[in-house]
Amino acid sequence: MLSTTMEAALNEQIREEMYSSYLYLAMAAYFEGLDLRGMARWMRVQAQEENSHAMKLFDYVFERGGTVTLKALAEPQATWASPAAAFAAALGHERHITGCIHKLVEQAAAEHDHGTVNFLQWFVKEQVEEEANVEPIARRLEKIGDNMVGLLFTDRELGSRGA
Ligand code: FEO
Repeated sequence: MLSTTMEAALNEQIREEMYSSYLYLAMAAYFEGLDLRGMARWMRVQAQEENSHAMKLFDYVFERGGTVTLKALAEPQATWASPAAAFAAALGHERHITGCIHKLVEQAAAEHDHGTVNFLQWFVKEQVEEEANVEPIARRLEKIGDNMVGLLFTDRELGSRGA
């Protein structure tokens, strides 16, 4: 059985993951508007992944006899100064989520909730991958700036991301 404090913290993380999905969907819409369909696809796939992260938490809360209470999502930003700025914001967001996951692990450990510490290890590993996926794209776009050839080349590459 989850403690009420752990249940509340996991519910908060469901909101964080659903907001992540919403944010990446907003970025997908931004890239669609720029006709950068490959980047839009990359963000769409990312939005779906975030939804699956939320569902993993959702299922775990019930598995431990808890209750899921969904919270309101803030309106995400709709536009960015450039593709590089959008991917830099995505990287900043992933670093924020990594911090959230680490705090959850610390809380679970402090509560001696070993089941939750163990469950969260998947997210600890996933966050290493999430940051490692976005960081090189953000770095490359920073170098490319507004060079159209570089942008289109990167767009084509990112469009091959599988679902
Ligand atoms: Fe669910 Fe991208 O962290």
